[in-house]
Amino acid sequence: MAVFPQRYTVTAALPYANGPVHIGHLAGVYLPADIYVRYLRSAGRDVKFICGSDEHGVPITIRAQKEGVTPQQVVDKYHALIRDSFSDFNVSFDVYSRTSSPTHAEVSSNFFLRLYRDDKFIEQTTQQYFDEQAQQFLADRYIVGTCPNCGNENAYGDQCERCGTSLSPTELINPRSMLSGAQPVLRDTRHWFLPLDEYEPWLREWIIEGHKHDWKNNVYGQCKSWIDQGLHPRAVTRDLDWGVPVPLPGAEGKVLYVWFDAPIGYISATKEAFPDEWELYWKDAGTKLVHFIGKDNIVFHCIIFPVMLKAHGEYILPNNVPANEFLNLEGDKISTSRNWAVWLHEYLQDFPGQADVLRYVLCANAPETKDNDFTWKDFQARNNNELVATLGNFVNRAVVLTHKFFGGAVPAAGELLAIDREALDQLAAFPAKIGELIDNYRFRDALAEVMNLARLGNKYLADTQPWHLIKTDAARTGTVLHVALQIAAGLAPLLAPFLPDSAQKLATMLATDLVAWAAAGRPDALGAGHQLREPALLFAKIEDATVEAQVQKLLDTKNANLLANAPVAEAKPAVSFDDFQKMDLRVGTIVAAEKIAKTKKLLKLTVDVGLEQRTIVSGIAEHFTPEELVGQQVQVLLNLLPRELKGIQSQGMLLMAENADGSLALMQPGKAVRNGSPIN
Ligand code: 2FM
Ligand code: ZN
Repeated sequence: MAVFPQRYTVTAALPYANGPVHIGHLAGVYLPADIYVRYLRSAGRDVKFICGSDEHGVPITIRAQKEGVTPQQVVDKYHALIRDSFSDFNVSFDVYSRTSSPTHAEVSSNFFLRLYRDDKFIEQTTQQYFDEQAQQFLADRYIVGTCPNCGNENAYGDQCERCGTSLSPTELINPRSMLSGAQPVLRDTRHWFLPLDEYEPWLREWIIEGHKHDWKNNVYGQCKSWIDQGLHPRAVTRDLDWGVPVPLPGAEGKVLYVWFDAPIGYISATKEAFPDEWELYWKDAGTKLVHFIGKDNIVFHCIIFPVMLKAHGEYILPNNVPANEFLNLEGDKISTSRNWAVWLHEYLQDFPGQADVLRYVLCANAPETKDNDFTWKDFQARNNNELVATLGNFVNRAVVLTHKFFGGAVPAAGELLAIDREALDQLAAFPAKIGELIDNYRFRDALAEVMNLARLGNKYLADTQPWHLIKTDAARTGTVLHVALQIAAGLAPLLAPFLPDSAQKLATMLATDLVAWAAAGRPDALGAGHQLREPALLFAKIEDATVEAQVQKLLDTKNANLLANAPVAEAKPAVSFDDFQKMDLRVGTIVAAEKIAKTKKLLKLTVDVGLEQRTIVSGIAEHFTPEELVGQQVQVLLNLLPRELKGIQSQGMLLMAENADGSLALMQPGKAVRNGSPIN
């Protein structure tokens, strides 16, 4: 008999409240964590599922500067958006808090003070980069430069996003300020450091010896390479005005480093939601602590936070940190700044009520052992071939045939043949098989087994053919459908951690409750005579046009990025004011427009320029229709020498702005002005 922990504390990385959440977040962290927790709950284990928004740190203040609002406004906006996205995707946190909460300020300050009083920090004055223009120290992401490890020219002061190396600002080559672009100077400042090096022997024993076999290879490997490279003291405070203030006299203008306060956020969120029991979930040796994170968070959760917990002395340590690799999108790294993402809230606008389809695709293709790619073609194929054609089809056939042949009442089983017993035996083995995979954080394989159960159902129906059998042997048909319905009933609880909405829909159709894990897969889940509800489709086919629209949306993003990053043309040599004055620029209104026959590009325009009506031939037919031009006010160069085009005398030129992609925009006055008004 397996011995289970008395209770579980499961955390999912606190997302920065500086932008919405996307499929990479869901696939890498929140979905596996939710599957794990839903399974644990179904298996009757005592579990708390903890998360919240990470509302401190430079990512927030940089976003605030970009949007021209306060950091508080940024976190208020994105905290609500992120919380709602998680809830819409049925991520079933027991608490979703935020690190700007008063409880968090108290818990994290006390944590710091405890380490301070126990002499766990080194207090040191060091030189840090300072932006003289902005009059500010440049902590973490306020400074960028070249990564000493991989040469990425845009590595941040705390981490290189390309190679994942954790950095300190002084390691950057050619550092520059994110605030002003200026080259920063070094200035003295006093901070508190956690001497990670002192914990090296302990970390070696705890991770390298102790977790060699139960932590994932990618996690173990990263930790080992960190430790082998040698650990150094790390500052846990920053010169910033956004964060939890350092609770010491004389530390004005300093806050706790976001990576010091954020993981303590797991503890404060638990305390906030469960004020009477929280200590059991963080301090009792019978509790199993599991952190779900993405690979860029490994060092913080496997080395720094455990050192903090160890230094404090009262807390348990993580039992496992099943970090995932990254999910790419259509072959490219997901990026918030480049808008290269499928945002969860936008997905639900385009696919209302279909959270489960995305949950399915992201779990089936989860980046558990290596980076993976999300493509809309694969999304469509998995929905149509797996959810619709395999899972939905099996359930639908079992329920529809029961309605057709037996009025929707579960038929009694007669004598069981070998094929029936074989199917029921296989059904009975699934809960343990799937449970073991989930217990070992192998969610993709676990979901594949759920689908194998649906395949078993399809194969059973294909082998027994109740739709033919009914013509000759109603009793045997009843037995077959009885068995098929037990498989359908078994699917509901086993599917529930992965696709909770669909599992509930299935249970409702079968007129049962979602049973606990231990009761799943029983041969008598639905008794003879039990009345089913009307059949309803669990999944719907996704058409080509639907995914093509999504691909087009991404192409539009790519083009917008290309445009935004296209180089701007070099400046032309200077001209005198007199030369400029020679041009007679006026406002006019297009009063008529027509295509010039046998040309692709030319339009004949009649423009009221105040003095008279001018004919202007313009090569813009591929950009504008005649109809959209009529009535528009435009800027006209009046005294361009007339020239003949296709036999028409052109008397002037319209001014246009040309985009990097060659598209054109009319130059128009910002408000209506009299035709003929000069442009100076
Ligand atoms: O990488 C991130 O998005 C961080 N906000 C994760 C923090 S996890 C925890 F420690 F709070
Ligand atoms: Zn790098």
